[in-house]
Amino acid sequence: MLPKINPSHTKAWEDLESHFANNDFELRTLFKYNPERFKEFSLETEDLLFDYSKNLIDSRTLDLLLKLAEETQLKEAIGQMFSGEKINETENRAVLHTALRDFSETPILVDGENIKPAIKKVLNQMKAFSEKVISGEHKGFSGKEITDVVNIGIGGSDLGPVMVCSALKHFKTRLDVHFVSNVDGNHIAEVVKNLNPETTLFIIASKTFTTQETMTNAQSAKDWFLKSGANEADVAKHFIALSTNTEKVNEFGVLAENTFEFWDWVGGRYSLWSAIGLSIVLAVGYENFEQLLKGAEATDIHFKTKDFKENIPVLMGLLGIWYRNFYAAGTYAILPYSQYLDRFAAYLQQGDMESNGKSVDRNGDFVEYETGPIIWGEPGTNGQHAFYQLIHQGTELIPSDFIAFSKSCNDVSNHQDKLIANFFAQTEALAFGKTEEEVLAELENQGLSEEDIEKLINYKIFVGNTPTNSILIKELTPYTLGQLIAFYEHKIFVQGVIWNVFSFDQFGVELGKVLANKILPELKDNQDITNHDSSTNGLINFYKKSK
Ligand code: F6P
Repeated sequence: MLPKINPSHTKAWEDLESHFANNDFELRTLFKYNPERFKEFSLETEDLLFDYSKNLIDSRTLDLLLKLAEETQLKEAIGQMFSGEKINETENRAVLHTALRDFSETPILVDGENIKPAIKKVLNQMKAFSEKVISGEHKGFSGKEITDVVNIGIGGSDLGPVMVCSALKHFKTRLDVHFVSNVDGNHIAEVVKNLNPETTLFIIASKTFTTQETMTNAQSAKDWFLKSGANEADVAKHFIALSTNTEKVNEFGVLAENTFEFWDWVGGRYSLWSAIGLSIVLAVGYENFEQLLKGAEATDIHFKTKDFKENIPVLMGLLGIWYRNFYAAGTYAILPYSQYLDRFAAYLQQGDMESNGKSVDRNGDFVEYETGPIIWGEPGTNGQHAFYQLIHQGTELIPSDFIAFSKSCNDVSNHQDKLIANFFAQTEALAFGKTEEEVLAELENQGLSEEDIEKLINYKIFVGNTPTNSILIKELTPYTLGQLIAFYEHKIFVQGVIWNVFSFDQFGVELGKVLANKILPELKDNQDITNHDSSTNGLINFYKKSK
C-alpha cells in the first residue's frame, strides 16, 4: 500500500512555504551571482541534456523539495509500483506498465504468478502478426495485400498510438495507419472515405471492450466492410481486437487467434507499451517498437536507481509541485520544437490530467492543497505565433517544458538551425525578459521622441522570470522517444505520490457516461423532455426540433 501522508503537514512543506515567502527568485540575479548555475542545475545522459537551471529555485529550494520527497516516502512508493504491489487501491490492481518493457530475467509476480511469460507471448504474437501484414503474406478477403490499418479506440487506446505513430513517421513501414476515436460519425466517415475494404485492416482497441465510442465505431466499420461484398467469414481477415475482455471480443465476432490480450494491471493511459501498441508495430515495424520499449526501460532503470538529485523524472515532478503549490500556477505547457511531436501535449493531457486531476487523498479526505494542473501545448515554432504572447506578457505564471532534438530526421536546407535558434531564444527571453532600461535604450536608438517613448515603453517591457525546463535530445529515434515518454509517466507518478492521491483510477469520467446513456433513448421521438433541469431540457428540446 502506498504511504498516505498529507504533504502539507510535513516539515518540508512548512519550510518550503516560508522559503517561498522570504525569497524573490529573480533569474537575472540568480544567473549573475552564480556562474556555475547551469552546471549545478542540469543533467546530461548519453542521449540528452536536461537543463532546469532556468527555474525559480536555488539550491535550498531543491534541498527542501528533495526533503518533501523523502518525507512523503517517494522512494518506498517507487519500489512498490515496480514490484507489483496493488497500489491502485481503489480498483484493487497492480500498476505494472513498467513490466511491459522490462527485458530482464527477473520475475514480476501478480497474485503469486510471474507475468513475464505472458508479456513475452503477446509480444511474439504482435511480432509474428505484424511481419505477416507488413510483408503482404496476410491477405484480405479478395486475396490482396493489406495497405491500410484503422485503429478504432479512444483515450488511452488511441492517444498513445496516435502520438507515437506521428512522432515516428520517419520510420514508417509501407502501411498507412489511421485512427478513429470520436463517436462523431464524421470521424469514421472521413477516415474510410478513401479506403478500400479489400485492403483495410481494422484494429479494435479497447481495454474494457464496452466503451460506447469504440463499440459504435467498430460496428460501423463492420457494416462498411460487409457492404463491400465481403461476407461474415471474411471479417476474421480484417478485424482484430486488443483487449483485456476476451469474452466481449468473442461476442463481437473476432477470432481468438486475432485477439491480442493485455491485463488489468495496465492502465489505459499507460497502455501504449502493451498490445494497444499494435498499430505502432504495424506503422513502424516490430524492431522499432522494441526500441521504444527499450528506451522506456532505460528510463525505468534511471528512475529506480538514480539518486533523487540526479533523477530526471523526480526533479521534473518536484519542480512542477513547486509551481503548482507555492506559485499557484494553474497550468503547465508542453512545448516540443518538433513537428513530429504534434500530438505529444494531447497525449500528456490524458496521462497527467486523468491521473492527477483528483481532489480526494489516499485517506479518503478532500485535499486542502492544489493537485494536477491543466496540461496543454502545441509544437514550436507554431505556438510562438499563437499563444506565446500570453506566456511572455500575460498575467499568469506558466511554467513549461521545451523539448527539441539536436539532429533533424530530414536534412532540409537550414531549417534545423532556425528551429533550434527559436528553441534557445524563447527560454532565454522567458527567463531574462527585457528591462525598462533596455527598452529605453532601444527606443532612443530608433530615434523616437521622448513623448513617443513615454507612450510605448511599458508595452515593450518583458518582465521575464518565467520558468522553463529544456530537454534537448540528440536525435528522435524510437529509443529516445521511449525514454522521453517514460520520463513524463514517472513525473506524473512522483506528483501523484506526493499529492497523496490515487493516480491510477479515473472515476471522474463516469458520471457523464452514465448520463449520456440515460439521455440517448430520450432523443428518439419528438416528445418534449421535462425530466431534467430547465437548461438540459431546453437544449435537448432544441436539438430534437432542429435535427
Ligand atoms: O476516459 C476514460 C477511459 O476509461 C480511459 O481511461 C481509457 O483510456 C478510455 O476510457 C478507453 O477505455 P477502453 O480502452 O476500455 O475502451
